[in-house]
Amino acid sequence: MIKKAVIPAAGLGTRFLPATKAQPKEMLPIIDTPTIQYVVQEAVDSGIEDILIISGKGKRAIEDHFDRNWELEALLDEKEDKNLYNEIRHIGDMANIHFIRQKEMNGLGDAIRYARWHVGNEPFAVLLGDSLVDTVIPATQQLIDIYEQYKQSVVAVEPVLREKVSRYGIIGGDEISEGLWRINQMVEKPDVDKSPSNLAFSARYILTPSIFDAIDATKPGKNNELQLTDAMSLLLQRESFYACVLQGKRYDIGSKMDYLKAIVQYGLKRKEFSEEFRAYLVDTVKGL
Ligand code: UTP
Repeated sequence: MIKKAVIPAAGLGTRFLPATKAQPKEMLPIIDTPTIQYVVQEAVDSGIEDILIISGKGKRAIEDHFDRNWELEALLDEKEDKNLYNEIRHIGDMANIHFIRQKEMNGLGDAIRYARWHVGNEPFAVLLGDSLVDTVIPATQQLIDIYEQYKQSVVAVEPVLREKVSRYGIIGGDEISEGLWRINQMVEKPDVDKSPSNLAFSARYILTPSIFDAIDATKPGKNNELQLTDAMSLLLQRESFYACVLQGKRYDIGSKMDYLKAIVQYGLKRKEFSEEFRAYLVDTVKGL
């Protein structure tokens, strides 16, 4: 059973400057809900009970968001706004949420390393705090289902344009059933002509605790950061890894273009906006 999750959220978010100069990119709202709240909800919907958020410099707003806000709750209670009161109150009670601060932004592998003592000796989920996956079955649940079958690490992947593989961590392997791969290679930001496939890591992982020793044995790689891909690649010499093409659409909120797309998609899904917003979009498209 996978009951613990780690959500790395300490990164600098330089691709989203200037918005991220003084606020975490994980707090960028999709309409009215911060990105990381969707991520926590996905974990909870996948049966996770305990969450460790890797926080860092300039990320206090995330801790405040998952804390109680007594003044605000009292105000909403006084106004007898029951729905909003319940919604705000619920945020602090979504799961057992803990925080630890990454002291230097040395990459995703380094961020995961901070979870070692919290996670202990059990497999755990990793959900990148800046990525949403719009699905019917929660993305983490999809990976857990595969983990339960094979009892080995499972990573989410998505196909990307071949000419863009050098922006991503990429896997190579054999497809053992539709959308499920047994991995034999992982490489961070490969050159287009050397890439083993066009399947890129897609922000969700189930990892065994052996990853911590692998991280310790890994040297800084691309961009002089401790890359999770390199640590997983090292562990691949001793343990099997599976990759699952997620059923759903992933949005990297750290990218301005994906952020725009997510706002449109999530806006269309919201009942209270969908009719007016749809009409607005149709009108706008006609005018293009
Ligand atoms: P990114 O790969 O998007 O890196 O992180 P970044 O540094 O935040 O973004 P840019 O490239 O400067 O725009 C993916 C996830 O991993 C976390 C980030 O907060 C994000 O949720 N992360 C990344 C860490 O927690 N620590 C790190 O050192 C790097």
